[in-house]
Amino acid sequence: MNSLKEEGETVVSPQALAAVLRPIETATGMPNVSYTDPGLFGFERDHVLSRNWVAIAFEAKLGNAMIHPLDFMGIPVLLTRSKDGVTRVFHNVCSHRGFKLVDKERRTGGRIVCPYHSWTYSLQGDLVATPHIGGVGVHEVEGFNCAHKGLKEIRSHVWMGIVFINLDGHAPDFEQDMEAVIGRTQSLMGTAGEDEMIYARDFGALEMTVRCNWKLVIENFLEAYHLPFIHPKLNAYSPLADHHCGIHGEKYSGQYTTTFDPGIDSENPLPMFSGWSPDRLSIGDYPAVYPNLLLGLQANHVFAMIVHPLSADSCFEEVALFYCGEGACGDVFRDIRRINLETWTSVFNEDVGPCERMQAGRRSPGYHGGGFSPVLDRCSHHFHQWVARQYRQACDQDGRH
Ligand code: FES
Ligand SMILES: [Fe+2]
Repeated sequence: MNSLKEEGETVVSPQALAAVLRPIETATGMPNVSYTDPGLFGFERDHVLSRNWVAIAFEAKLGNAMIHPLDFMGIPVLLTRSKDGVTRVFHNVCSHRGFKLVDKERRTGGRIVCPYHSWTYSLQGDLVATPHIGGVGVHEVEGFNCAHKGLKEIRSHVWMGIVFINLDGHAPDFEQDMEAVIGRTQSLMGTAGEDEMIYARDFGALEMTVRCNWKLVIENFLEAYHLPFIHPKLNAYSPLADHHCGIHGEKYSGQYTTTFDPGIDSENPLPMFSGWSPDRLSIGDYPAVYPNLLLGLQANHVFAMIVHPLSADSCFEEVALFYCGEGACGDVFRDIRRINLETWTSVFNEDVGPCERMQAGRRSPGYHGGGFSPVLDRCSHHFHQWVARQYRQACDQDGRH
């Protein structure tokens, strides 16, 4: 492989990728252009995110019998949820003249009608009506097979209430690809943990636009090094010395703490996951599932943050909080949920400024990927290496020389 370059494209040299892949002591991070260049944003969409399982939505926020358009890095995508709660994902484009089919989230009686010429699809994506296709009043025509013109489905999977897609359709099966993530999550929460998770309908959501490349949010989340400086309050009860780096799998790493307080001595503690081991109540686990999902697993609640890449230098954070069982989402625990959301909101807000300043720093010709603490930046370096390998593979596979 030489460089990632076709005419007019920005270069990421093989030397720059090799530098990321060096041992952490001498490694540099991904080069500035991968955080600033619109062309590389498109490259990452087509060759990194599209080839992996990417988190795109929280299923509990999607109402039944609803259709939900969303933009995935410039690609119009449509989530449909049938009356019986089955989620499917399609390309949001009409098979006739390429009209963007749905532009607003809405309820549906089970049909999606294209506003342009009224071709009509079921929530399963079948083309079920083609008004006047054979001339006025003639709705079928010989030689035109509706079965070939349904919506194009995107491979999807729901895990922990999170909808994932694999755009190119070639990633390994979700469960195989995510074996390490699923295994470790179950080892903490128990095998029933996923079923016990209930999305909190009040004080359960948080959204923020951040003016930085999506990768910086992941990298920032993966290290606790900044804790004493950026999160002094959090550091007071969950100090840096009690945070540890864990590399759990090829696309899965994160910090965990041993000082989480599930409040069991309080008058009215939140219910806890039934399979969470009593000797691990003080564990708080904060992994990233590459490319774009951040998790916070604690004995009495879970948060998940989907990092939606918007452009080379902006992204959107969508956070959902889940508690253990319907009871935990009832009135009795309302104040606890409110305070919990306020706490996480202030922590996540404290991270916005640093992420945006790292983005600003990536406009500097004096910065060439920087360096890492071999101890405290192990997880963020692991993520950089994963990204670099994705770039390298893409260049090799596509014969970009
Ligand atoms: S473009 Fe949708 S019906 Fe014509
Ligand atoms: Fe932080």
